[in-house]
Amino acid sequence: MSSEEINAASLGELARAEAACTRCPLYRNATQVVPGEGKVRSSLMLVGEQPGDKEDIAGKPFVGPAGQLLDEILEDAQIPRSAVFVTNAVKHFKFEPRGKRRLHRRPNVGEIERCKWWLEQERRLVAPKTFIAMGATAIRSLTGRSQPVSSLRGKTLELSDGTPLLATIHPSYLLRIRDPDDRARERLGLQQDLARGWEMARHLPQT
Ligand code: URA
Repeated sequence: MSSEEINAASLGELARAEAACTRCPLYRNATQVVPGEGKVRSSLMLVGEQPGDKEDIAGKPFVGPAGQLLDEILEDAQIPRSAVFVTNAVKHFKFEPRGKRRLHRRPNVGEIERCKWWLEQERRLVAPKTFIAMGATAIRSLTGRSQPVSSLRGKTLELSDGTPLLATIHPSYLLRIRDPDDRARERLGLQQDLARGWEMARHLPQT
């Protein structure tokens, strides 16, 4: 069955279909697919880029260094991770082997577009009231805009069906900032964006 014929009735069924995905070449080198995690009818969907090395091994999103940082920031923003649907724009890890290490590579537009199909299936099943797109890949996938995050960060956009989307930085960006003051400022900005998205989602009626 091609992925276009799949109309999964549950997140479990969707995850099984995703595991057989060959819509782009990334499945060939990844260990496994990493589906989104959370409950159907979560009011907020958090979208990242793609699984990293640790997520590829665990089969779960945001469990590596960026995920641990995200967990800390969610806690500081008083957002229970279990109440949020956490996923990625691209479901397989894209990397370049370097000795024993696997270096992250950014997904290209073609890969983002091919994988968008799965994100849309998650969206259909979860029906979130608000999205938070963390980083350029998530923004590209959800809005079609190829713009630097800095020009959209903190802005609320509207998807074609009217669902609000808040654009913000990706937590892995924080891991690359060397200056402690800059890092603290950017971390607080991400925390405030997450808190705002959470408040928006909680106050919108469920569709
Ligand atoms: N970065 C992402 O965008 N997603 C993950 O799941 C982990 C790191």
